[in-house]
Amino acid sequence: MTTSSEPSAHPTARGSLACVGMGMTLGSHLTPLARSHIEHADVIFAALSDGVVEMWLRRLHPDVRSLQPYYAEGKSRMKTYRQWVDLMITEVRAGKRVCAVFYGHPGIFAWSPHKVIEVARAEGFEAHMEPGISAEDCLYADLGIDPGRFGCQHFEASQLLLYERRIDSTGYLVLWQVGIVGDRSLARLHTGPEYRQVLVDVLSRDYSLDHEVIIYRGVTLPIDKPRVRRVALRDLPGTEVTTQETVVLPPAMPLKPNLIVRERLDELDKASVA
Ligand SMILES: C[S@@+](CC[C@H](N)C(=O)[O-])C[C@H]1O[C@@H](n2cnc3c(N)ncnc32)[C@H](O)[C@@H]1O
Repeated sequence: MTTSSEPSAHPTARGSLACVGMGMTLGSHLTPLARSHIEHADVIFAALSDGVVEMWLRRLHPDVRSLQPYYAEGKSRMKTYRQWVDLMITEVRAGKRVCAVFYGHPGIFAWSPHKVIEVARAEGFEAHMEPGISAEDCLYADLGIDPGRFGCQHFEASQLLLYERRIDSTGYLVLWQVGIVGDRSLARLHTGPEYRQVLVDVLSRDYSLDHEVIIYRGVTLPIDKPRVRRVALRDLPGTEVTTQETVVLPPAMPLKPNLIVRERLDELDKASVA
């Protein structure tokens, strides 16, 4: 059976683009549809978590072009991401079927896949995003968290510092990119304890300094195990957080019943019975 999003086995001269997710764990997370996009492409661009994952991808396709070398300490990541978009769209314009493979989900905390799809569509090319298993999905499984139980907010950690955001401490709080929290240059590969202290100061408006913070690293190679560290919020500055870790704060407060809405629903229930 074919679906509308499955790549065509009959190439046209017109270029096309698919941004697909590789999932987090090598070998086991790649969906059949993502694999099909890879196998039917003329050229593959790869932004993966690990050189080993890239080597594995090269077994699926002879023309895999790594996007990793465009990163450099001191160079703005936005410049790198714009270069990625240019590289991909150039091949689409040249009539190639381009597949760009990103680790995790290509649309989660990833600027280039959304941008290049937008550019390709604006120029009349077929462009598609194929989801993948993200760090978020692994986190729910490994930490036993159901985001539907108390609700769950996700923030890019620096955004939480740079903008006035409202945290709901009755639900889970998931913070991405804590390893580079507070980096406004977009050019650093890591920020230190003093930057995490600013994050702690912001969080301490809604959480006690004793509150548990979970530092989570999901599995990228099948031989690994998830890494889960639990520290008190006050100890976060002194705890190294890598760029492959996500931080979770469990709820700090019980859910507060909304008595006004409950009364209104009571009235509705009574009226519908009557
Ligand atoms: C640029 S985002 C990419 C996310 C990716 N697109 C996804 O779907 O998971 C990078 C952030 O993802 C999270 N991350 C990356 N690898 C991870 C891993 N192995 N375990 C947990 N979180 C990870 C961290 O918060 C990191 O700062």
